[in-house]
Amino acid sequence: MTRRGRPASAVPSADMASDAPSGRILALRVNGERRRLTVPANRTLLEVLREDLGLTGTKHGCELGECGACTVLVNGIPRLACLTLAAEVEGAEITTVEGLAAGGAMNELQAAFSELGVIQCGYCTPGVLMSAQALLNRNPAPSTEEVRNALSGNICRCSGYVRIVKAVKLAGRRLEGRR
Ligand code: FES
Ligand code: FES
Repeated sequence: MTRRGRPASAVPSADMASDAPSGRILALRVNGERRRLTVPANRTLLEVLREDLGLTGTKHGCELGECGACTVLVNGIPRLACLTLAAEVEGAEITTVEGLAAGGAMNELQAAFSELGVIQCGYCTPGVLMSAQALLNRNPAPSTEEVRNALSGNICRCSGYVRIVKAVKLAGRRLEGRR
């Protein structure tokens, strides 16, 4: 249950959806999988991901659009899931932090974060990873300033961002080396 309203019903088929509580039937693509749910019109993407789909990697922080903990990618663009209605992103490709690790193996960015000991409490980390991944996808060789700009919406209260920036640049160099 959320403070915004009734939870959605995850339904595997249209037939089952017809028995679901009132709301809108929504077809989403999350981490490459098609998902169908019946959701109240005011259900946020953050609520759907965490509470209906069990993808709790995306964090619930301020719920005001200020901390960046809820950042996911929508068609490759960072977006705050707390300020996005699930209905707005119907048909879009949504990527959460769970989608970065193909087959359960860390990707370059996650590996660099682990290697450089970036993570402290870790609450900001999923959102930071998603913003950084979007940057590396379009620019694998970002400058320090470009990394800082890309992460300007992600608040980390534990670190001074120095290792985060180093890890993003390290991952970018490795990605470039593979091209
Ligand atoms: S929880 Fe979305 S910006 Fe803080
Ligand atoms: S590691 Fe704790 S908020 Fe960033």
